[in-house]
Amino acid sequence: MSSLPGRSLEYIKRYRDIVDDFDCFVEAISRPLNPSIRANTLLIDPDLLASRLEKRGFKLRRVPWHQWFFIVDDPELAEHPGRSLEHLLGYYYVQELSSALPPIVLDPKPGDLVLDMAAAPGSKTTQMAQMMKGIGTIVANDVSSDRIGALRSNIDRLRVTNVILTREDSRSFRSKIKYPKILLDAPCSSEGTVRKDPSHLANLTMTRIRRFSSLQKALVRRSYDLLEPGGVLVYSVCTFAPEEAEDVVSYAIDLGLDVEGFELPVMSDPGVVKWVDEKGRVHEYHKKVERTARVWPHLNDTGGMFIAKLRKPGGRLSQDRGYDIFMTDDIHGTAYMEPASKDDLEFFNRYFESRFGVDRRELSSYIVLKRGRSFWAFSGEMRTLEVLDRVESAGIRALNISGRIPKPTTSFLRLIGNRAKRNITSLRSYSELVEFMSGGIVRRKFDADPGFVIVKYGDDVLGCGMYSPRLGLVSQLPKYMRAEASWGLHPE
Ligand SMILES: C[S@@+](CC[C@H](N)C(=O)[O-])C[C@H]1O[C@@H](n2cnc3c(N)ncnc32)[C@H](O)[C@@H]1O
Repeated sequence: MSSLPGRSLEYIKRYRDIVDDFDCFVEAISRPLNPSIRANTLLIDPDLLASRLEKRGFKLRRVPWHQWFFIVDDPELAEHPGRSLEHLLGYYYVQELSSALPPIVLDPKPGDLVLDMAAAPGSKTTQMAQMMKGIGTIVANDVSSDRIGALRSNIDRLRVTNVILTREDSRSFRSKIKYPKILLDAPCSSEGTVRKDPSHLANLTMTRIRRFSSLQKALVRRSYDLLEPGGVLVYSVCTFAPEEAEDVVSYAIDLGLDVEGFELPVMSDPGVVKWVDEKGRVHEYHKKVERTARVWPHLNDTGGMFIAKLRKPGGRLSQDRGYDIFMTDDIHGTAYMEPASKDDLEFFNRYFESRFGVDRRELSSYIVLKRGRSFWAFSGEMRTLEVLDRVESAGIRALNISGRIPKPTTSFLRLIGNRAKRNITSLRSYSELVEFMSGGIVRRKFDADPGFVIVKYGDDVLGCGMYSPRLGLVSQLPKYMRAEASWGLHPE
């Protein structure tokens, strides 16, 4: 018997004809989904992460088709899979398994240039950064400033330095270059996330679906313009409605994109060529939509996902990954994050050398950018940054000089902390860890100069603290990296 609210069950019947086993499908979407996590291989080996989490009581099940992923089986932790020290330190990301599939189809490699057209909150952006081993450039765009905030927090937490964040309506995304790989994980009616949030189905109307469908077509249209000849666009939506899936792909075919088949590591059905909707209307799509994939929740016990791999015909224009400058738009590179001047770079290097004993050669793996009173560490390509408009940030913020003394950020200290030789403080006990991680003050003397220090617990670099011999060590963790005392961060 389904636990779906009656209205949702009534609604979902429109898919009766296109699902192989409708009862099985309804049964699956009526059951909540245990969360899954992705080890952040930029920072930690998946086995090491699993053994750390298991020591603290997580019950993890390995995902057979991807070594980065684990399912969290413990029902209590499953409610809050992000409540651990490892999560706060960016060692993993909570990501639904079907959401891992579109990046697998796009297959970004180290050194690639990728445009992520609807990127927030960054599950796929950060997964692609891992696939690229942090080498190459991802341009991650989203229209919503709130969601960009979440995306930036995730990039910071996972210590991803090769992402350029832009905030634009992707329907009119401005760019002087074309891209060899584009991910369009489009805004959609999210029916496939019903196991996480049943309201997604309960509040759906056909008007909303139609609106999403036209938005998606406009986004595909712009993706087509931005794609280099021979380039690949992966289009995905976490929904079942053919209006947002095969219908959009048919539109893409009309634009001139070709549909390519692909292998998935999980079970899927081909896209539907013909179906009859709830009003008895018959819809027929291009035969080639059969090459797309529908990942129904009951096939692999996941959420739902539709994926298409689309290629723009033509040979590649340059051996140089799309860096021919296309004057498709009348824009000039208005990036207001610029490489630090010689003097500023000297100031930056000298600060980390003198305060923390970090060899400046260690810092040279980053391009140091400056905007206003802050420095940023970026490891993507400058020539991409230079030709983009509406840049929100590139890389991660490293140092702020607006106050009385320079203030390093927690994310940057986490990146370089293990190469530092001075002003490192180590916490001694679980209670000190909890105090620091929850934004409090550890009241004792440390062997450090007054001012900003690197704070460690065992081998983990926790972040930035402010040490004063009179007060103690005051946590400088940003709010989104703080824990609550009740979380149980570590076994005692
Ligand atoms: C399905 S979510 C993306 C999820 C993301 N790819 C991930 O894996 O974490 C769709 C995103 O599209 C964004 N969006 C909606 N309309 C947009 C537009 N016109 N241009 C750019 N982004 C848009 C939303 O703010 C939302 O963050």
